[in-house]
Amino acid sequence: MSLTTVHTVADLRATVAAWRAEGLRVALVPTMGALHDGHISLTKLAREHADRVIVSIFVNPTQFGPTEDFSAYPRTLPDDQKLLDAAGVALCFAPSVDEMYPEGFATKVSVDGAMTNVLCGAARPGHFDGVAQIVTKLLLQSLPDCAIFGQKDYQQLMVIRRFCDDLNIPVDIIGAKILREKDGLAMSSRNRYLSVTERTIAPSLNRVLAEITAKAATGAELGPLLAKGRQDILAAGFDPIDYLEVRDALTLELVGQTVTKPARIFVAAHLGKARLIDNHAITPANIAG
Ligand code: PAJ
Repeated sequence: MSLTTVHTVADLRATVAAWRAEGLRVALVPTMGALHDGHISLTKLAREHADRVIVSIFVNPTQFGPTEDFSAYPRTLPDDQKLLDAAGVALCFAPSVDEMYPEGFATKVSVDGAMTNVLCGAARPGHFDGVAQIVTKLLLQSLPDCAIFGQKDYQQLMVIRRFCDDLNIPVDIIGAKILREKDGLAMSSRNRYLSVTERTIAPSLNRVLAEITAKAATGAELGPLLAKGRQDILAAGFDPIDYLEVRDALTLELVGQTVTKPARIFVAAHLGKARLIDNHAITPANIAG
């Protein structure tokens, strides 16, 4: 079965309806394209949960701030299609901006509170409203059995779980682990912005997180660990750091002095033109053991 690409909601729905008529299970993997192995790993997980996989490719204007990289964001549809075809994906949904936001479009989806005004929500005002709006649309357009999202964007995954619960969207939301380059750098479409020198610096972000994670898991005090981590990240060449924080893995509330429950360390930092994000799970030693 080779990849089919459709550009309209009507064609997407017709394809899904035909699969449903055959009794097939359907998974959706939303992306903004410029695909890499991290995205492809999501399609593999999707395949474990469904008979047919849809990958949407849409650079969503409403989740970019006015000074962010919406126009510069890489658009590589022909290359993406080759990767999806090779990965056994059945359908690529690649709508235009007009198809998603036609004249007169006026509806917002907004997730309030603790989960959206911290981390990337604080650094990128309005970002998660844009994500919630487009993911709601994609889920309702395709109505899959399940949808896969990477833990690379852990806060995004939690926000999506929140509004799917709140709005009773009948789709199983599945989280996928972060895929990394051999040197530990989390794969990202934005890694394409890095110069050769910056690319050698970039893995230090993961190294710093790993060091803090190991110590925090055995009960070390977070204050000094985070202070040293910030120094190390700046010394490596990142500037500025948007955040380096340890938060509860479920509520995203700030963790106090030491980690006693499952937590996560989150970082966002700028390196040249790229803003890189990463996170690690911190499982306290008393729980792991
Ligand atoms: P995008 O950045 O293209 O990412 C698409 C999906 O791939 C997200 O669920 C993201 O977490 C996952 N992903 C990216 N890099 C990954 C890696 N190294 N390992 C595992 N998964 C990875 O996230 C978005 O697009 C958009 O916000 C979107 C959800 C499509 C809404 O527009």
